[in-house]
Amino acid sequence: MDFNLKADKAEFIQLLRSTGREGVDDLVEYLDDGRNHFFTAPASVSHHYNKDGGLLRHSLNVCQVALKLRELVLGMRPDLEFELNEASVIIASLLHDICKADIYVPTRRKSKKPSNGIPVFVDTYNVDYSNFPMGHGEKSAIMALWGGLDITQEELLAIRWHMTAWDLPFQSVELTKCLNVARDKHPLCSLVQLADGVAASLIEHNTKDNEEDL
Ligand SMILES: [Fe+2]
Ligand SMILES: [Fe+2]
Repeated sequence: MDFNLKADKAEFIQLLRSTGREGVDDLVEYLDDGRNHFFTAPASVSHHYNKDGGLLRHSLNVCQVALKLRELVLGMRPDLEFELNEASVIIASLLHDICKADIYVPTRRKSKKPSNGIPVFVDTYNVDYSNFPMGHGEKSAIMALWGGLDITQEELLAIRWHMTAWDLPFQSVELTKCLNVARDKHPLCSLVQLADGVAASLIEHNTKDNEEDL
């Protein structure tokens, strides 16, 4: 699958600017500051969208799904209009995975399938968490703040908990309670989590490159 990196970046910036939130341009600069490579990073090494620009395209997919889910939910529950305001849905969905902007290091590996006995090399990535080993959702939330975006508490919580129970340390009663309270208090948490699942599991189903090599 090929991505149009320039068009996707323009769409990402346009969506963020449409929220009218302060700090969008600072955040965009931060996401691509030499240490962070959000606009060219893959979404994974061996799962969905494992090539340059995959993380950006995944973020846009999650945003598109989240906006459609929002319409669906508000059609049945119009009283959730405030909790699921469009700006918050865009910000939380677009930024939920920005923690991955600095973890992928391009490398080449020998393919398991040589061509006529001649070794073949494939482009892939190593994963390196050493820049800021904070965890997944937590790191994305902190990076949004570090990037200078004016972001709300419910947006931070939706980003922090977008993995729901998959992000819980085993037997952590306190964190389990925090997750449940965040979801009860802010419907945005569930919306972003659902949109992420739909995008990664369905929209991006069977989209990995070099499957036989990794
Ligand atoms: Fe994630
Ligand atoms: Fe994601």
